[in-house]
Amino acid sequence: MIIALDHIAIAVPDLCKAVNRFLVDFGLDFEGIEEVKSAQTMTAFFSLSTTNIELVSPLHGGGPIAKYLEKRPGGIHHICFRTDNIAEDVERLKAKGYQFLSDAPYTGAHGSIVIFIHPKNCDGVLIELSQPSAAH
Ligand code: CO
Repeated sequence: MIIALDHIAIAVPDLCKAVNRFLVDFGLDFEGIEEVKSAQTMTAFFSLSTTNIELVSPLHGGGPIAKYLEKRPGGIHHICFRTDNIAEDVERLKAKGYQFLSDAPYTGAHGSIVIFIHPKNCDGVLIELSQPSAAH
C-alpha cells in the first residue's frame, strides 16, 4: 500500500553547488551524500517533516542522470511514493498493465527497496516506489 510522498528528486549537474544552495542558502536539514551504484548516481538527501528533497547527479559521469542532463540543464527528475509492501504494489500494478524500468525491485539509496514505473504509463512523469529499509 502506498503510504506517503517519500521525496522529489532534482537532477543537478553540480552536486556541491546544489547542496550548498539547499544547505546554506535555504537552511534545510542535510542528511548526507551517498554513492548509489545501482542507480549510477551520487545523491544528497534533505529531510523535511513529511517528505525529502533528493538531489541526483551522475556517478563517474555515466548512467541515466547523465543522459537526462545531456538534454537539459537540470530539472525535476522523478517523484517517489513510499510503500509498506513494494512486492504487493508491483504485482497489483503489473496486473493493471503498468510497465516498470527493471524486472524487479532493487536496493537504492540508504538501503531502501525501489522500482520505477515507466513514464509512458503516467503521463510522462517518472514515478518511483520505495520501501524503506528497517534501519532507516
Ligand atoms: Co529517488
